[in-house]
Amino acid sequence: KKKVIIDCDPGIDDGFALVLALKCEELDILGITTLGGNIQAIAAAKNALKILKLMGRLDIPVYMGAEGPLKRKLVTAKEVHGKDGLGNAFLEEADEALIHNNSADFILETLRNNEDVSIVALAPLTNLAIAMEKDMETFNKVKEIVSMGGAFRVPGNCSPVGEFNYWVDPHAVQYVLENIKAPFTMVGLDVTSKVVLKPEHMELFRHFNTPVSKFLYDASRFYLDFYWEHEKIIGCLVHDALALAYFVDNTLADGLHSYVQVATEGIAMGQTIVDEKNFYKRNPNCHVLTRVHADKFFDMFFNKVFPEFK
Ligand code: BDR
Ligand code: CA
Repeated sequence: KKKVIIDCDPGIDDGFALVLALKCEELDILGITTLGGNIQAIAAAKNALKILKLMGRLDIPVYMGAEGPLKRKLVTAKEVHGKDGLGNAFLEEADEALIHNNSADFILETLRNNEDVSIVALAPLTNLAIAMEKDMETFNKVKEIVSMGGAFRVPGNCSPVGEFNYWVDPHAVQYVLENIKAPFTMVGLDVTSKVVLKPEHMELFRHFNTPVSKFLYDASRFYLDFYWEHEKIIGCLVHDALALAYFVDNTLADGLHSYVQVATEGIAMGQTIVDEKNFYKRNPNCHVLTRVHADKFFDMFFNKVFPEFK
């Protein structure tokens, strides 16, 4: 099995990713680390617990992490994810006493005590940067990092060039990219914007009529309305679920290996600058995904999450 820590800020699409992860028998989920991003840190930790409760997996530990970015003030995305951060699905709460401290220390401890641990990062990279800064050698034992974030050939979703996770804490991504030794894959808007969850998918959630499908239905209902209001598209993007799916099955997408830096200030803040033509003669530090098989993703999602309806 692939040993993994999932770092997230649930978040509707983080919620989808967690549901999928918990249904993947290929994964050994060692812990879920959370942080402030889409919503405040404590709310993110509570949401991770709510999803574990829904899935009957409260045995997996949840950690609370960074309250906000390394150097900037936290900007949340409440309008995108609803009052509860999970599309106003208002899932049943779990006992808050189950939340541990803290994400960065757990990441380091896990990497110290285990071999071949990967991290799937579905939020700003603040926790990862903090862990790395504390103990670079241990952090660099990580097997692989798959990070949802960035935008290469497509526009941003927070600024003309900034994708939310990298725009919220550009210093964290830049620090991680500068120092990472393990393979780092950027699952950016180039691929996530091509994977659109449509009303027909929601109809399946509605017909399946299980507690999990009800959550997916309620959350996507809210998300779909947001996308219509703001982008005039019928459908919503489940960014983080694609990143998780790619970690499990990397035939879902591919791209190029290149040297990448992230702009930390000014109008380009959060922009992922990909040296595709190798002007800087630096070794690649990032696998930038550019192509994706959207249908294959949805097949995987439905087959894994609802095997009973195959
Ligand atoms: C990313 O930002 C958050 O709103 C989502 O959860 C995802 O991680 C998309 O830009
Ligand atoms: Ca997220």
